[in-house]
Amino acid sequence: MFQAPFVYDAPAQFAVSAQPEAPVFCLSHGVLAATAARFLEGFPGLTTYAVKANPEPAVVRALLHAGVTAFDVASPEEIRLVRAFAPEAPLHYHNPVKSRAEIRFALSEGVRVFAADCPQELAKILEEARGLVGELELSVRFRLPIAGAAYDFGSKFGADPEQAVELLRAVAAVGALPSLTFHPGSQCLVATAHAAYIRKAAEIAREAGVSLHRLNVGGGFPVSYGEPGEVAPLEAYFASIRAAAQEAFGAAVPPLVCEPGRAMVAEACALVTRVKLVRGETVFLNDGVYGGLAEAPILKILPRRRVISAEGVERSGAPQPFTVFGPTCDSLDRMPGAPLLPADVEEGDFVIFEGLGAYGSATTTRFNGYEAAGYALVSTAAAR
Ligand SMILES: Cc1ncc(COP(=O)(O)O)c(C=O)c1O
Repeated sequence: MFQAPFVYDAPAQFAVSAQPEAPVFCLSHGVLAATAARFLEGFPGLTTYAVKANPEPAVVRALLHAGVTAFDVASPEEIRLVRAFAPEAPLHYHNPVKSRAEIRFALSEGVRVFAADCPQELAKILEEARGLVGELELSVRFRLPIAGAAYDFGSKFGADPEQAVELLRAVAAVGALPSLTFHPGSQCLVATAHAAYIRKAAEIAREAGVSLHRLNVGGGFPVSYGEPGEVAPLEAYFASIRAAAQEAFGAAVPPLVCEPGRAMVAEACALVTRVKLVRGETVFLNDGVYGGLAEAPILKILPRRRVISAEGVERSGAPQPFTVFGPTCDSLDRMPGAPLLPADVEEGDFVIFEGLGAYGSATTTRFNGYEAAGYALVSTAAAR
């Protein structure tokens, strides 16, 4: 943590006073708490946090403080991290593929909720949890061919619906609590995608003759990386999920669970980067695809940003297309398209990106010896 526990007003104030040479994430506890409140008050069920989106201890602690009580974890390391702050918190190990050693570790840490998408994984969990099967909740992960998300998780995980029927029956038959789960893909721009999965979940449960213990609708809630408000608000997703569950399950709606990562944390962090060189219409930043801007090529957008001088003066030149590279020697380390920057951008300026709290610091590498300097605390994560 950068100069913790000092809290700066905003990322720009931090940049001007700290003059960081390496990229720094600026985290706002207030924004995190406000987003958590939207989920806790608006989602019609239990909100868990998908730790993978941002495992920074300050983020996990702030979410606990904001009232998030349960977590989706993907690895032993994430289990250790949450256990350090919340020894009793319910953990859902929803990475559909886990080694036997990972399953054993999770069981030893009190994890009892696991996902599986094939008979082999189910068998592995049941063998490793021998003697504990009655305590387990096993969520069958299924997939549907629905487009509209930035990531196609269905290409990696998920049983087809017919196979999910068999798996659900098998879970019920061994005496574990039978649940269903899905993930429509991260940054899912189709606000009705979850509804289609919910309708299919009701069909799968009916076909299997199984009453669901819970239905976990995954993550996928999107973030506006361009202009604020360009994606439907979270509340539109919540309303669609609520209506679909009532329509599909009638009077017997199973308890719902969601596990947002991206939408829970993205807006709580800005990323302060610095211009290393302006060479004609090419700008070199001190961060790129191997660091906090890893998702830019995948999302095909350079997130909304502001450029200020080292003294904090707003660059006011007309927006002009630039080729924008990151700091490594790799030519792939390039931002998508020709992003607009003020024509008067100069070496030493700060480029402050908004909405980078998810999958930024979590996926950052040390390629070429470059790495973010860490986190600073800010009251607001807005660049302006
Ligand atoms: C099982 C599971 N749950 C939740 C999430 C979080 O998804 P998102 O960041 O789209 O909210 C992921 C992302 O990979 C996931 O794999």
